[in-house]
Amino acid sequence: MTARYHNPVDTRFGWGSLDQLADITEQQTVALVTFPEARGLGLVDRLQALLGERLVYVIEDVQPNPDVAQLRATYEGFWQQAGSCDTVIAVGGGSAIDTAKALIVGTESGRFDELLALLASGKPFVPPRCKQLIAAPTTAGTGSEVTPWATIWDSASQKKYSLHLECTWPTVAIIDPQLMLTVPGGVTVSTGLDALSHALESIWNINANPLSDTFAVSAIEDILECLPLLRRDLASQELRSRMALAALKAGMAFSNTKTALAHSISYEMTLRYGLPHGIACSFTLPLVLGLAWGHDEARDKTLQRVFGNDLQIAQTRLREFLHSLDVKTEFADYGVNASDAQQMVEFAMQGARGKNFIGSRAA
Ligand SMILES: NC(=O)c1ccc[n+]([C@@H]2O[C@H](COP(=O)([O-])OP(=O)(O)OC[C@H]3O[C@@H](n4cnc5c(N)ncnc54)[C@H](O)[C@@H]3O)[C@@H](O)[C@H]2O)c1
Repeated sequence: MTARYHNPVDTRFGWGSLDQLADITEQQTVALVTFPEARGLGLVDRLQALLGERLVYVIEDVQPNPDVAQLRATYEGFWQQAGSCDTVIAVGGGSAIDTAKALIVGTESGRFDELLALLASGKPFVPPRCKQLIAAPTTAGTGSEVTPWATIWDSASQKKYSLHLECTWPTVAIIDPQLMLTVPGGVTVSTGLDALSHALESIWNINANPLSDTFAVSAIEDILECLPLLRRDLASQELRSRMALAALKAGMAFSNTKTALAHSISYEMTLRYGLPHGIACSFTLPLVLGLAWGHDEARDKTLQRVFGNDLQIAQTRLREFLHSLDVKTEFADYGVNASDAQQMVEFAMQGARGKNFIGSRAA
């Protein structure tokens, strides 16, 4: 087989690397998108000092899981008040980065509903204007800093939209593990499991290849070893750095394959049962591993590099790993009965991400 790997993001990694922002944004005017705790943590002041007069607009009330209910006002306020800025800088978790991805895509009218209608149509489009995006993640999880996708939620209508344009690839990603030191234990675990899910989903994926596998296998090995240690030692610089790198590698892996069945299931679990994203896309991993096994020799070989040759042992290891982090692994644990669970899995197989799953062809 021949393989192709493409990721256009200028990616910088390292403790303290946020300071590079000053050089990267020279001669630009910038808007900052960040999470509500950032000011109390001194991060907004630090960014103001780094950027000086270049910083012309700040959005700091981004809530978890960007929802159309909040995005509409944020989007329209941004284009009215900061529509002439050059660059948007997202400093936060996936919610801040995905919010910024939605903001940079300018519609003709400056109205958010115009963007929503384009997303709802599901058809490709080229926006009339788009700003540059710099992404600095403060959680080790989503990989959104090295992917072009943004998930936009509409919880009132129980829907989600996926934004994906050529211009929604960040121009620059700055992965500074120091920014992650303040992430609480629960969020550290759920975001770390999101990264584990990205890496596994990129392996049991019809778009996988040896290059994406290289990132994925390395990410999985790091996460299985590091996440339980980090949970007990949240102040460890070494473990924060290793998890930040693992989440980046997982992001690199699925930036070329997209996600698959576990994510397709997760959207229903988040919309209908309110599960946080990282838990929703990881509690089914042992189940999905079982559904993936035996469909494709090359995929099996990659999975066996991590888990060995015995499926039952592999599933048990993954289950015990999740239990050790206090994550329950059965649908029933989340109030979903067996027949609803089966329906949900079948429905998820037919979703856009579910169709990437190697087992979907046989289902
Ligand atoms: N675009 C992609 O490729 C992609 C991939 C996976 C997930 N996502 C999306 O990302 C979102 C979830 O992102 P997330 O898991 O990073 O969580 P998040 O951004 O929602 O953050 C979780 C919580 O932690 C807080 N927080 C973030 N950084 C912190 C820090 N350094 N210190 C203290 N608190 C901090 C936030 O304010 C929030 O309350 C979801 O909307 C999901 O759909 C996108």
